[in-house]
Amino acid sequence: MSAVTITGLHSLKHSKTRFACVTAYDAGFARLAEQAGIEVILIGDSLGMVVHGHTSTVLVTVDHMRYHTHMVNSGSNKAYLIADMPFASYATKRDALANAKVLMQAGAHMVKLEGGKHLCEIITHLVQQGIPVCAHIGLTPQSVHVLGGYKVQGREENQAALLSEASQTLQDAGAQLLVMECMPETLAKHIDQQLDIPTIGIGAGRYTTAQVLVMQDLLGMTETPPRFVKNFLTQTNSIQEALSAYATAVKEGHFPADEHCFQ
Ligand code: KIV
Repeated sequence: MSAVTITGLHSLKHSKTRFACVTAYDAGFARLAEQAGIEVILIGDSLGMVVHGHTSTVLVTVDHMRYHTHMVNSGSNKAYLIADMPFASYATKRDALANAKVLMQAGAHMVKLEGGKHLCEIITHLVQQGIPVCAHIGLTPQSVHVLGGYKVQGREENQAALLSEASQTLQDAGAQLLVMECMPETLAKHIDQQLDIPTIGIGAGRYTTAQVLVMQDLLGMTETPPRFVKNFLTQTNSIQEALSAYATAVKEGHFPADEHCFQ
C-alpha cells in the first residue's frame, strides 16, 4: 500500500472502489491494520469505552486523544489517520482550533467532529486553517444522553430528511469525509449517492463508500456486540488474518451482509 491521502480516498469514491477503516489506539494494532491493507485508521474516542472501560465516550479528553494519536502515528506510516475531537472540545471556533491543533501535531491527518448543521461554521474555520475535517452524523455517541441511548437514527421521514440535508450542508462547509453511524441502509445509500465526498458507514448498510468497525468488536472482544458487528477472528487464526479478512470483505462487498443492516 502506498501512502494514503485525502485526494486518493476521493479518487476511490469516484472510481466506485470501496476502502476499509478500523479503529486503533496504539502502535501495535495500527501496524497490524496497515499491514492488512486497511487504508484509514480512526483513533476513535470509543477508546473511552473499549480501552478505559467507561459506558460512554463522554469522559474522554483532548489529552487522552493526543496520547493515543501519537502512539498510532508511531505504528503507521502509510494509513490515513483520523483522530476524534472528544466531547465538548469543539463548542467554539477558538476551542476547536486549539484542540484540533493538538491532535494534528500528535500525528493525525484529519479530525472528526460529531453533529449536524450547527457545526458548519466550525468546520469551515478548521479547513481554512489547514485542518481537514471528517463529519459524523446519525448515531453520535457523544450525545448519548440527549439521544436517550445508542439507537438507530433516521427511521422517521422527517429525521431522515434532516440527516440528508445536514450531510449536504456539512460537505458544502468543507468536510472531506462523512461517517454515518446506525442509520437505515436506504438513507445511507441516498446520502452517499448525493455527496461527492466518500462516506464511511458503521451500521449504515452496504452502500457507503467505506466501512469502519471498532477493532475490539471485529476481534470478538465485546460482550454484547451490536447487530452491525461481525467477529472476524472466529474464521481466522490470528489478529493479522482477521484484519486482512475484514479488509478483503469490505473491499469485495461481502461485509456488511444483510443481517448487519438496519432496514
Ligand atoms: O469513536 C469511534 O470509534 C467512532 C466510530 C464508531 C465511527 O466514532
